[in-house]
Order: sequence, then C-alpha cells, then structure tokens
Amino acid sequence: MKSEKEVREPARSPQGTPDGGSTVSPFTFDGSRGYDVGALRAAEFPWTSDTVYLNHASIGPLPERTRLTLERFNHRRAAPHLLPDREMFAMLADTRRKIAQLIGASQDEIALTLNTGYGISLAARALPLRPGDVVLVSDKEFPANVYPWMRMGDRGVVMELVPTTAEGWPDEARLLERLRDPRVRVLAVSLVQFSSGYLVDLERLSEATRETGVYLVVDAIQGVGQLPVNVSQVEVDVLACGAQKWLLSPWGSGFVYVRRELIGRLDPVITGWLAFEGTDDLSRLTSYDDTLRSDARRFELMTLPYQDFAGFNSSLDLILELGVERIRDHIRTLHQPVLAWADRSGARVSSPRGENGSGILCVSPEGVKEVHRRLKSSRIVCSLREGAIRLSPHCYNTVEEMERVAHVLAGD
Ligand SMILES: Cc1ncc(COP(=O)(O)O)c(C=O)c1O
Repeated sequence: MKSEKEVREPARSPQGTPDGGSTVSPFTFDGSRGYDVGALRAAEFPWTSDTVYLNHASIGPLPERTRLTLERFNHRRAAPHLLPDREMFAMLADTRRKIAQLIGASQDEIALTLNTGYGISLAARALPLRPGDVVLVSDKEFPANVYPWMRMGDRGVVMELVPTTAEGWPDEARLLERLRDPRVRVLAVSLVQFSSGYLVDLERLSEATRETGVYLVVDAIQGVGQLPVNVSQVEVDVLACGAQKWLLSPWGSGFVYVRRELIGRLDPVITGWLAFEGTDDLSRLTSYDDTLRSDARRFELMTLPYQDFAGFNSSLDLILELGVERIRDHIRTLHQPVLAWADRSGARVSSPRGENGSGILCVSPEGVKEVHRRLKSSRIVCSLREGAIRLSPHCYNTVEEMERVAHVLAGD
C-alpha cells in the first residue's frame, strides 16, 4: 500500500493537466478550430491502434486520464479515511460546475444523477400534471423517453405518440401543430434520435413551447458531448443526460438540468437525505430541518457513486478542453468517406444530412446483417439499429478509419 502522501497527490492526466478543470489543452492549437488527433489518440485512447471504435451512441470509452482517476480514487477508497466527506462534496460541486459550463447553465440548476431515465422520470412525476393532460412524444423515441410518460396513465395523464415522417424522423411540423391543443402540457423529445441521428430544431421547439406554455423536456444523452447545447440561449425546462456515451464517462454518472424558475416549484419524487438544508451540518443530523434545498440538489439521490463522478470530472475536462464545437466539426468531416460511398453505391442513408444531422450516421446497404458481420470481423465496432448500420464516431476517430469502413461497406 502506498503512503497517504503518495495517494493524496492530485490526479494528473498523462500530459500533466490537473483534474481540477483547466481548459488549457495539450491537443489544441492557438487560434485554430482543429486539434491534434494523433496526440489525442496516443495519450487518451491508446487501444485505438488495433480497433476502429464507432459506437459512441451505445457506450463511450474512458479516456486514459479518466481510467487513471478511477484507479487512483479506488486506491484511496480502500482506506476510506483518505477520502474525507468535505473533499467528496467539493468534488461533486466541481462536477456540477463543469456540466453547467458545458451546457450554458448555472451550477445551481444541475442535479447529479446516475443516468438519463432518472431525470425523465423526475419530470414526469414532479411537473404539475392533471388527469386529462397530454404529453407529446414522437414515435420511435428511445424507450427511456417513453415508459415514464406511459406510466403516467396511473394519474390520468395521456401520452400521445406522434407518428414520424416517412423517413422515420420526428415530425416537427406535426408536433408544433399539436402544441396548439390546450390539453397538451408537455413535449418530451430526444435532442438526437438514437436510431437515425436526427437532431431536432430545439430552438424552434423551445420558442413554440414558450408561446404555448408547454413544458419542454429533453433527453439529451445522444447530443451532449458531441454537439453544442446552450440552455441560456435556448430555453428548456428539464434536460436529462447520462454521461456513459458521448461524455466518455463511467456508468452510473449523469445529470439533470432543471430551469431555475421551476426548481422551487417542483418537489423531489424520491426523498434523498442530502436534499435538505438540515443536512449541511453532519454533526446535527437529527434536528430534522425539513427545508428542501433551494437549488437542484433537492432532486439528488444520495449517496452517489463518488468514484464515477471523479471519473466524470476527468472526462468533462477533456471535452471542455477540446470544445464541443471543434468536436462537432471534426465528426462532420469523419462522415464524408462513408457518405461518398453511399452516393456511389446508392445505399440508403437514414440520417439527415443537413441542419438536422448529428454525429450519428446510419446507412442501410443490401444485406445489412451480413455487412454488419463483415465490419465486425474487420475489427470495426458499430451497432445494428432498426435495420441500419449505426456509425457514431467521436473526437479521436480519423478519416483513415472511416475510409476503411467505406472499403468494407463496399465489399473491397
Ligand atoms: C435517447 C436515449 N435515451 C436514453 C438512453 C439510456 O438511458 P439511461 O441513461 O437511463 O440508461 C439511451 C441509450 O441507451 C438513448 O439512446
């Protein structure tokens, strides 16, 4: 066992960046919109030399700095006296601060959660909904944004599944039209659809819901980390996000954003003991002050998996260093070789290409299952979803890797 002094050293990334949130990156160039992909791969994703990983819409890998943070944390966890409560609470505050920075929120609007589903369920159960109220959800949404609303039938709330367009994308025009029905109280939508990569026009949905007084609830897990999201520019009411995909973070880390004006009006649906002002003083816990916190921590479930949030902090540092706009631009470039192959071969592309496009690219060649097997045996990791091959590259993938994918798709 190492001495306490050794294990108390602040965790450092291989490049010497403190985990505490410096946004100076060893991978970015001054004044440039790009970054050094080769250096990023070598330092943070060293296993990429033998596998082409294009499955971030399923599960994101852990950068090296995050893996090391987890190792160091667990080393200290073996002897819990090395992890004082004060330090754990400060670490969680750091996570809230970094998430707030990433999505343009304020730290007090962020509650830490274990996944996306908790935030959606919180919205379903805590928003003031009455029997007869309608929740609009697009058909073909991921089930995490369906079942919590479906279950609201027990309170007489009706979930309406709005049919998709012929392409299988959310029909935004129809959703907007349905907002005019006074029974509609909630629009619950994924920022990016899991099976097509369709990115909704959040600005338009936000404006329309503001006009009609409908709550806008966003499942953002397929968007945050690969696309810019700014809730101070585009108002939403609740935004739920797990960190295990595009945020490259441990399972069991995530968050929910609740718009400040709503926080005091929503009661938590599960009662966490740290959700109360009275628990600030750990030496007087049994005075039972039942005043709920005025910030979003009132929605948090305690005790949280601290090790996962330590890891989440390190991954957030990397994403903040690179910058989501740079990441988005990089991913767009990555799609080009596969799109060029689709154009040549006539294969169907089920993802939108223009403004509604995202980092997820879905293609349906002839004999899709066989092609998926071929990709797999060429050590290319991707998913088969709703009849299409779903490619979801991230910040460290290369154009050469995508050219390799295009070759395999072409059967070369
Ligand atoms: C749109 C969407 N929402 C939610 C999830 C996952 O939900 P949770 O984080 O609750 O497991 C996924 C994928 O697993 C998804 O694609």
